[in-house]
Amino acid sequence: MSGSFSIDGVTVPFTEGQTIMDAALAAKIYIPHLCHNPEFVPQGSCRLCCVSVNDRMVAACTTPAADGLEVANETHEITTQRRLLLKLLFVEGNHVCPACEKSGACQLQAVAYHCGMLAPEFVHFYPKREVDASHPEMIIDFNRCILCELCVRASRDYDGKSVFNISGRGINAHLTVNSPSGKLGDSNFSAHDKAARVCPVGAILPRNHAYETPIGQRLYDQESISQVGDVASHQELSDD
Ligand code: SF4
Ligand code: FES
Repeated sequence: MSGSFSIDGVTVPFTEGQTIMDAALAAKIYIPHLCHNPEFVPQGSCRLCCVSVNDRMVAACTTPAADGLEVANETHEITTQRRLLLKLLFVEGNHVCPACEKSGACQLQAVAYHCGMLAPEFVHFYPKREVDASHPEMIIDFNRCILCELCVRASRDYDGKSVFNISGRGINAHLTVNSPSGKLGDSNFSAHDKAARVCPVGAILPRNHAYETPIGQRLYDQESISQVGDVASHQELSDD
């Protein structure tokens, strides 16, 4: 089956098997998202990509495209909802943007700018989270993890290693490393793994490459996320 539907009044073609997100990305229409990466099976957990389809809210990354759908994406109401979700994400972790290595190349920060989130609204939780610096090539800063599970999917489905997992529920949900000690250094993780390059925020970072790109020259310093897309598709890690 193929056909077309509309996103904010713009006609978008689709082919069999595409989701609304797939068709939008192919048509270069930006639907804000965090847990989606076209290389992996969508899981629809962050809800940032929710759009209104024939007046019903659905996740664009998991909803099949169909002929004649009328999709609303960037309405005032939907953008307000997205800002709310983003504000909640910012208070759940410790996101210190001015001092973060990923500032300017962080999808969470870039989507927040795109949605017009300029200030926090809720009281920060300030959770106590560790930094795992046990691996010779990579660091995990759990403070910035937004539980998108992209590293989980990349490690399991692409690298064939299943280094990561999410444990716990609700506010207690957290990323875990599948090694006897729970430390990254005791796992078979490598800086050359796909999972090392998919994190949309600054939670999984290479060692010895910090601050290589000066502030002002980073991905989203140059252009909006709606123009340049996901950070993962621009992330090239040196093989040195
Ligand atoms: S470490 Fe990064 S990729 Fe993995 S779940 Fe957290 S935010 Fe997502
Ligand atoms: S991108 Fe669709 S739910 Fe996260």
